[in-house]
Amino acid sequence: MGLKKNPNLMLKKIFIKTFGCQMNEYDSNRIFDTVKKIGFEKTDKYEDANCYILNTCHIRDKAKEKVYHEIGRVKKIFRSKKKPIVIVAGCVAQAENQEILKREPYIDIIIGPQSYHKINETIERYIKKKKKEEETEFDTISKFNYLSKIKNQDSKVSSFLTIQEGCDKFCHFCVVPYTRGPEYSRPFNQIINEAKEIVQSGAKEIILLGQNVNAYSYRDENRKFRLSDILIELENFSELERIRYTTSHPKDMTDDLINVYKKSIKLMPLVHLPVQSGSNKILKLMNRKHTIEEYLLIYEKLKKINPNIEFSSDFIVGYPEENDDDFSQTIKLIEKVKFTNSYSFIFSPRPGTVAAGHELVDKKKSKERLEKIQKKLFENQLNKNKSLEGKILKVLVENQMKDGIKLFGRTEYMTPVIFDGSFDYIGKIIKLEIKSSNQNSLFGIIKENYKKKVA
Ligand code: SAM
Ligand code: SF4
Ligand code: F3S
Repeated sequence: MGLKKNPNLMLKKIFIKTFGCQMNEYDSNRIFDTVKKIGFEKTDKYEDANCYILNTCHIRDKAKEKVYHEIGRVKKIFRSKKKPIVIVAGCVAQAENQEILKREPYIDIIIGPQSYHKINETIERYIKKKKKEEETEFDTISKFNYLSKIKNQDSKVSSFLTIQEGCDKFCHFCVVPYTRGPEYSRPFNQIINEAKEIVQSGAKEIILLGQNVNAYSYRDENRKFRLSDILIELENFSELERIRYTTSHPKDMTDDLINVYKKSIKLMPLVHLPVQSGSNKILKLMNRKHTIEEYLLIYEKLKKINPNIEFSSDFIVGYPEENDDDFSQTIKLIEKVKFTNSYSFIFSPRPGTVAAGHELVDKKKSKERLEKIQKKLFENQLNKNKSLEGKILKVLVENQMKDGIKLFGRTEYMTPVIFDGSFDYIGKIIKLEIKSSNQNSLFGIIKENYKKKVA
């Protein structure tokens, strides 16, 4: 390994802390697969690390402050010990780059999300020269070409796989187009090969990721591939049980994708489709590029194919110029679609975005709206979970809970289920009878091994 070849590399343990979205989680795993090549091992203890990576998120307020706070913690932990190499990665690194190095001298390396393929050479150069390093180019093609040569060793039952990165939509509130760069779709074969690696490592569920996952579009010399083609290909993986994808944009919810739901058995019936607001006026101001009528048309098409399909979403309240009437339209939409497993946020002005300079809705009003929307969403969730009591559901068992006794799995709709059972069930789909529930989780008992019954 690199450690033996390079006497300068006396470092061995790396601690990676991840904030933000699922793509950051995927990235942290891939960073770890990469730094292994130069001799690093993963540690779950801060104090053991000789290299500390903070993978950051810039999506809402206080993102920067969170970074400095976290670095302060690391500083404290290492006050009487040798300082680790401190790396800030992710979307804050991309957005702030040199600024971070100036404000916090304890940080040694800044690396943006499209430069992770350079992380090993950057660390080695830093060790050699002891000079601050910054890598923030948008070099997505090289990144994925490099990463495709490094085995994905994610051994989780449910594993992420990034197929698309970046965004060209430029919603007026969002930093992602600036931190992740332009839309890029990975080559089809690269994705399928990585999916094979993950399944070989034990994954039973793959969650395909992209900032606009359904904008996936790749052309080789013979043909064009869309997300629907990846889903159809994965359906043939005999060891794979479940397929999901996130996050979709309503504008890219094309008929080829919708039609996959007609035939697929492995594609799960929960569609995460962020709508942000129920008011066409607000959608226009947000530059979302679709109307509520178009959104509902997608809803109806999918429900017609399978009435059991459910929707989850993201909502922003208190967007500039949102009045009570706009907000009530959002509530109406929630009542109609009956979203489950959804997220809601107060608008947070992000530097550099179009909406950043706009007049804010009164803070108190925004908070009230958030409370109302969350009450509604939680009610939906609670009612849904209650209605499942006494029912028998298929659950993919993911892992053991921290208590070392209970098991954790998820329904087809992503709802967590907690139950007693043996370790052997991990990675299997089993049938559980739901005995009780709360807003977040279901509690069940094992009925039988679903797979065995089917066989
Ligand atoms: N690409 C996805 C889409 O088109 O909806 C989502 C991307 S973003 C990582 C996840 C969610 O964060 C968004 O759907 C939005 O609800 C929320 N979000 C993004 N920027 C925000 C902001 N400035 N203030 C509040 N919420 C924001
Ligand atoms: Fe952000 Fe909009 Fe792009 Fe989603 S589609 S990542 S919300 S700019
Ligand atoms: Fe955050 Fe970047 Fe993801 S801003 S939500 S980590 S794309």
